[in-house]
Amino acid sequence: MADERQKGLGIGGEFQRLTKYDRETMTGKTPRWEEQPPAYKSYPEAGQVRLPEPETAGGGPLWEVIGRRRSFREFKSKPVDLKTVSQLLWASQGLTGKVFDFELRAAPSAGALYPVETYLVSNLVESLEAGLYHYDIRDHALETVRKADLREELMHAGLMQPVLFECAAAFIWTAIVKRSRWKYRQRCYRYIYLDAGHIAQNLALAAEALDLGTCLIGALFDDEVNRLLGVDGTEETVLYMCAVGPR
Ligand SMILES: Cc1cc2nc3c(=O)[nH]c(=O)nc-3n(C[C@H](O)[C@H](O)[C@H](O)COP(=O)(O)O)c2cc1C
Repeated sequence: MADERQKGLGIGGEFQRLTKYDRETMTGKTPRWEEQPPAYKSYPEAGQVRLPEPETAGGGPLWEVIGRRRSFREFKSKPVDLKTVSQLLWASQGLTGKVFDFELRAAPSAGALYPVETYLVSNLVESLEAGLYHYDIRDHALETVRKADLREELMHAGLMQPVLFECAAAFIWTAIVKRSRWKYRQRCYRYIYLDAGHIAQNLALAAEALDLGTCLIGALFDDEVNRLLGVDGTEETVLYMCAVGPR
């Protein structure tokens, strides 16, 4: 009955229907581990910016941080430092554990497949030229994708939202879809979006603990952001962004 109703709801309803788990159709096949795509993306030709070691103690009382967090849309035109960027990258996607040789990250991920990549647009970060960077998780470093003032381009790609021009830095999350599709098939899209939500919330709370403002951005022209990042929009595609800065 619910299935019949969902059919009338367009592609979204169809997606929910066709990606349900149900006892009759679930195959229970074991994944072919030899076909698992790599869990890390790297830019071997890129210059690397080493990041200061993140703090792993303290960070503010959690209940107060949760209670204080609000979206923020008018940043002061002041820089943030590299230590802050390091802390935010670690809190959102950094390595925090190991089971045998398997590395685990700050935010949970369905099947620990970690399909989400993090890019940083630096607008006003001390010791980091304006430009686009990719987070190298294993080395806790930034890879320089291109140096440029990207404020206009980013704001245009984000439906002209001024926060994207005014923020000190913008975090942009993409998914490398096959990392999750390999195991979860079409259901992977559900998990990818859930993963991105966890990562974004970690970032928002960490920024709050550092007394910084954040504004999460879901309103974006997907292919314009994909072009800005240099990703194809299919195998790797933008999911979500977050503007961060002093308030
Ligand atoms: C998935 C998602 C997408 C969002 N996209 C935008 C956006 O594009 N622009 C914006 O100004 N705020 C955006 N927001 C922020 C919401 O407007 C905000 O979280 C909501 O109004 C509740 O306010 P609070 O965050 O201060 O608690 C988004 C939030 C979420 C969770």
